[in-house]
Amino acid sequence: MSVSNICILGGTGFVGHSIAAKLAARGHKVRVLTRRRERHRDMLVLPSLTLAEGDVCELGFLREHFQNADVVINLVGILNSAGKNNFQRVHVDLVNNVIEAMQQTGVGRLLHMSALNASSEGPSKYLRSKAEAEDRLHELSAANGFAVTSFSPSVIFGPGDSFINRFAKLLRMAPKVLPLACPNARFQPVYVEDVAACFVEAMHHHDTFGHRYNLCGPRSYTLLELVTYIAELIDVRCRIVKLSDWQSRLQAAVMQWLPGKPFTLDNYHSMTVDSVCESDFPDVFDVTPQPLEAIVPAYLHEPERHFDAYRRLARR
Ligand SMILES: NC(=O)c1ccc[n+]([C@@H]2O[C@H](COP(=O)([O-])OP(=O)(O)OC[C@H]3O[C@@H](n4cnc5c(N)ncnc54)[C@H](OP(=O)(O)O)[C@@H]3O)[C@@H](O)[C@H]2O)c1
Repeated sequence: MSVSNICILGGTGFVGHSIAAKLAARGHKVRVLTRRRERHRDMLVLPSLTLAEGDVCELGFLREHFQNADVVINLVGILNSAGKNNFQRVHVDLVNNVIEAMQQTGVGRLLHMSALNASSEGPSKYLRSKAEAEDRLHELSAANGFAVTSFSPSVIFGPGDSFINRFAKLLRMAPKVLPLACPNARFQPVYVEDVAACFVEAMHHHDTFGHRYNLCGPRSYTLLELVTYIAELIDVRCRIVKLSDWQSRLQAAVMQWLPGKPFTLDNYHSMTVDSVCESDFPDVFDVTPQPLEAIVPAYLHEPERHFDAYRRLARR
């Protein structure tokens, strides 16, 4: 495979770390755009990676860094909308600028991260804005001279994730009882390395051009099953209390006012549709999705090894 120049938006996050490490290990030159370069210096252990600081929502910044890029990867996403960091700006306006910058700089390939259940009819602003961005890319890619592939995963797990680790933290802090909102919501968690492998394979794989892929792991679980499993793994004896629908809404209505908005009404609405795939993992990729049980115990028991693991991955 020839070496490509790849520009990643949102590459400093959980998924971005895995994709960047895989690309760098294959010798590609990776440029990650970030709002705060200093915070992500750990990524500079990857020898062919550079970090560029700026506002990824600005057309001029994108145009500057798309020059000489062969591939652009967009991973930027937020779960909560607030002030300047709102769904319209971060999901939709950013993608409009990506389209314009791709057209102006002649970049021919885009990989885009959406979300499972993204739909214009979706129950939450998160899912509707994800759908609007994804649909625009697919509608306008040909006219703007680039090929797009988009990915819609269920919840993603792996060292450093914010889902499994968050519940582990909540369980460790809970004083014997954990009130659990949306206990019957279903997820089909997919391993971050499997998601990253799909992005890397898709880059130059013509069969994937213009396609949308849902990505799920091998099994689905209710949220209650997942949280019970996490409690067992970390050996926390805590009573998990299933909240009813109105109690879940109430919890979201209260918690969205807490610092960091740990659970919002928009999150609650997203969870009213099951985050599960109707079909098997796409066989266009040479990936056998890993089950949660094969991966989670290692990093929940020794979370501090995350960065060591990242450094080892970077050297591969
Ligand atoms: N994790 C999951 O379970 C999951 C499931 C389905 C879909 N997804 C999607 O997958 C993508 C990556 O997820 P992730 O878990 O890796 O997310 P993450 O860890 O939160 O990383 C997202 C990145 O986006 C950038 N970003 C965040 N807010 C921004 C803002 N307001 N303006 C500009 N840039 C901003 C950040 O880069 P800087 O801070 O460096 O600027 C951050 O590194 C997202 O699009 C997400 O919606 C994730």
